[in-house]
Amino acid sequence: MSEQNTVGAISQAIETARDSALQAIKSASDLDALRALGVELNKKESQLNSFKSDMGKLSSVEDKRTIGQLLNAAATLISTAIETRTGEFTELEISNRIARESLDLTELLTQRRRGHSHIVTQATQRLEDVFVGLGFQIAEGPEVETDFNNFEALNMPKSHPARSEFDTMFLEYGEPGSVLLRTHTSPVQIRVMKSWKPPIYAIMPGRVFRRDTPDATHMPVFHQIEGLVVDRGITFAHLAGTIEAFTKAFFGDDFSSRLRPSFFPFTEPSAEFDIRRADGEWIELGGCGMVHPNVLRSGGIDPEEFTGFAFGFGIDRMAKERHKVGDIREMYTNDLRFLRQF
Ligand code: PHE
Repeated sequence: MSEQNTVGAISQAIETARDSALQAIKSASDLDALRALGVELNKKESQLNSFKSDMGKLSSVEDKRTIGQLLNAAATLISTAIETRTGEFTELEISNRIARESLDLTELLTQRRRGHSHIVTQATQRLEDVFVGLGFQIAEGPEVETDFNNFEALNMPKSHPARSEFDTMFLEYGEPGSVLLRTHTSPVQIRVMKSWKPPIYAIMPGRVFRRDTPDATHMPVFHQIEGLVVDRGITFAHLAGTIEAFTKAFFGDDFSSRLRPSFFPFTEPSAEFDIRRADGEWIELGGCGMVHPNVLRSGGIDPEEFTGFAFGFGIDRMAKERHKVGDIREMYTNDLRFLRQF
C-alpha cells in the first residue's frame, strides 16, 4: 500500500471514530453516562488515541502533520461536545429540581375560588338569625373575665365544688386567681343584667376556654351561645317552649327537644336539653334552667319582681352534628380540603 493510501485510510478511520464518539456523546442519557463516556474516550487505549501510534509509522513529515491536525481537531470537537452536553444536562437538572421543589404561592390566585365563613361562624350566624327572629338581641362579653363574673356572681363562691368541673385557665394578672379565660359564656349574663334593664331577651355567643386535652369531641378553645330572658312572669314553660321553637327553626320541623333534670349552681331548677334527630337519635346539646335568685341579685335585679331563664350550649358540637364531622379537631386544622366542603 502506498503511503498516500495509508494516510487516506487513517484519515477516514479517524473521521469515523470521531463521528461515532460525537454520536455517543449526543445520545448519552444523563450526566453519569456522559462522564463515563468522557473517561472512556480519554483513555490511552481509546480508538482515537490509538491513531497516535499509527502516526509514528508514517515517514513523511507532511503526512504526520495532516494526521496530527486531524487528530487534534477531532479531540477538540469531542471535548467541546462533552462540555456543551454537560452544560445542557446540568441546566436540565437544575430546572427539574426547581420544578420539583418549588412552592406555587400563586396557587390560590390561579385557582380563584370564592372563600366562605368557617362552619362554626356559619353556625353562629344561623343561630343568631334564628334567635333574632324569636325577638332576642345579641350581646357580647370579653374572653378575659374576672373570677367574680365567671363564678362568684353565678352562685359559685370560692369553695363551691362545681368550680372543679370547669378546668379553668387563670391569667397572671392582679390578685392570683382573680382573672381568667372565661370557661363559659354565662358571665355575660351578669354583664347584660347590670347594663340593661328588664325585659331582657338576649343571646351571647362567644369563645370559651377550658384546660382540656384535645380529642375527637373536646377542644380547649370552643364556642358557646348563651341565652338569657328576664321579665315579669317568666316560667319554666317559657324556657321549654323557647328551646322547642329554636330546635325546629334551626334544625328543621322533623327535630324535637326534651329537657332532663340536671344541676347548675346558677339555675334552679336546672335541666339538660337534648334534641331528637329525624332518625330518632337523641343528641345532648346544653344546659338550661330558671335563673337562680342569687344570680338575679348579682345582676342588680330584684328576684321578687322578675324571673328569668337561661340556657347555654356548644356551637362547635352543633356544627359537628349538622355536618356529620367525625372529629372536632378537624374543624381547626385549617386544611382547605376539609373547609371547602361546607
Ligand atoms: N354555662 C353552662 C355550661 O357551660 C351551661 C348553662 C348555661 C347552663 C345557662 C344553664 C344555664 O355548662
